[in-house]
Amino acid sequence: MTSPSTTLSLVDTDPAELTVDAIVIGVHSQTGDQAATSGFAGSLLLASGAESIAAAFDGKLTETLALLGATGGPGEVIKLATLGTIAAPIVAAVGLGPEPTGAAPAPETLRRAAGAAVRALAGAPRVALTLPLPDDADAPAALRAVAEGALLGGYRFAGYKTKPQPTRREPVAEVLVAVPDAADQTAGAEITRAQAVAGAVRLCRDWVNTAPNELRPPSFADAVAAAAREAGLGVEVLDEEALRAGGYGGIIAVGQGSEAPPRLVKLTYTPEAGGNGKRVALVGKGITFDTGGVSIKPAQGMWEMKSDMGGAAAVGAAMLAVAALKPSVAVTGYLPMAENMPSGTAYRPGDVITMYSGKKVEVLNTDAEGRMVLADGIARACEDGTDYLFETSTLTGGQVIALGKRIAGVMGTPELCERVKVVGESVGEPAWPMPLPDDVRKGMDSDVADISQVNAVMDRAGHMLQGGVFLREFVAEGVDWAHIDIAGPSYHSGEATGYWTKGGTGVPVRTLVQLVEDVAANG
Ligand code: BES
Ligand code: MN
Ligand code: ZN
Repeated sequence: MTSPSTTLSLVDTDPAELTVDAIVIGVHSQTGDQAATSGFAGSLLLASGAESIAAAFDGKLTETLALLGATGGPGEVIKLATLGTIAAPIVAAVGLGPEPTGAAPAPETLRRAAGAAVRALAGAPRVALTLPLPDDADAPAALRAVAEGALLGGYRFAGYKTKPQPTRREPVAEVLVAVPDAADQTAGAEITRAQAVAGAVRLCRDWVNTAPNELRPPSFADAVAAAAREAGLGVEVLDEEALRAGGYGGIIAVGQGSEAPPRLVKLTYTPEAGGNGKRVALVGKGITFDTGGVSIKPAQGMWEMKSDMGGAAAVGAAMLAVAALKPSVAVTGYLPMAENMPSGTAYRPGDVITMYSGKKVEVLNTDAEGRMVLADGIARACEDGTDYLFETSTLTGGQVIALGKRIAGVMGTPELCERVKVVGESVGEPAWPMPLPDDVRKGMDSDVADISQVNAVMDRAGHMLQGGVFLREFVAEGVDWAHIDIAGPSYHSGEATGYWTKGGTGVPVRTLVQLVEDVAANG
């Protein structure tokens, strides 16, 4: 089942003359001082881009919007019937917050506004956005943000309803973005890029939102492999026999409790002429459902553990975007997949597992399964050879406790953590560096094996850090690495907001793509 698609193009005709179903304009909220000098409706300020629309309303547009309750606050969308004033029957004013002094709104503000507007306009097939875009060197980033926001706000998961839903409005099918020059090559390139990247994010969301009985390791591997082959990537899928023969003890241990056997999918992107000589590895956790195994989870909320393959989905989707964008760097994706189930064949606390790297791990909690499959994925990536290794996973509830639902935790080599933080900030997927303390590692010494899978002494203290400390053991010397814990930001349980819809968010697809492009450009 595929989710409805959204198309995107540029226009440079007068927005007042566009024959679309709705036109989106931006409005800023005004500070107290500004409002005091501009009288009634002073709480609102039209953003640039809306001039010709405002002119058609004889200067009454802000006043009317204010009467309708518009305040210009972020995320607010107020719709107004135009009744023949302009070609489009609806104007939708989206709040951008206070106008930044001397600058255009930040890209993330535009991305969220475009997302909120397109979401609010579901039911209107064709929509134009005329949002404030800077006319300087910041223009491409602003356009990229608007385009991504529109495509992501227009996402809806197809779902499984057997009957048509008469009250449900269809997502916007076509978005036009107003720019000064629709033939401008830089602008065109940003639209092409946004389509590739947002397409990847949407596919990642689809995979995450798919019911866990429909997406078990074999079918997940098939779906990723099919999409990757179509995109021209190299594809290798290791099934349970290949995994057992190859000594992937961590993946086999977690997968052995399920009748749906585990997989390891490897995707390869080879740049033209060898690229810049650097190699990037992306590794993603692909637990298609996490019951906790024998160390079983509580029933409440367990259904959200269908999202425990969000890391693998992000890596698979990012690889598809890489195939489309063709950066000049070699990139390989590793997606270890397993279903963590309790059963007569399941792995158990106390088991000692020989990992792909040869290290022996004492299992203390079968619910710490992510690090078991990731350790093998990381070891394989290092064996194949890489300069940079980015691994992402819904690894610990501790990440959510420490940083919340928006900000990912990053652990690894300090320079690379910093790079993830900077890149994450720039794409609107914030990530914060976290330490790898010696005492946490010490607490993971095992009586019988090389390392325990969790720190039995510290109990839940520093849970997120334990994950990072454990995974570090499997990264080869000399490889720059970053572990990105996305337990919080990869899945949105609340109501839709900005360009985030309910369910899978697609975090950190845009970070991974930008990191690859960053390494391609800067080494
Ligand atoms: N998949 C979970 C982590 C998780 C929790 C993701 C909440 C998203 C939302 C992971 O496999 C897990 O169970 N982690 C345990 C680790 C513990 C057993 C060491 C946790 O966080 O409690
Ligand atoms: Mn778990
Ligand atoms: Zn898990």
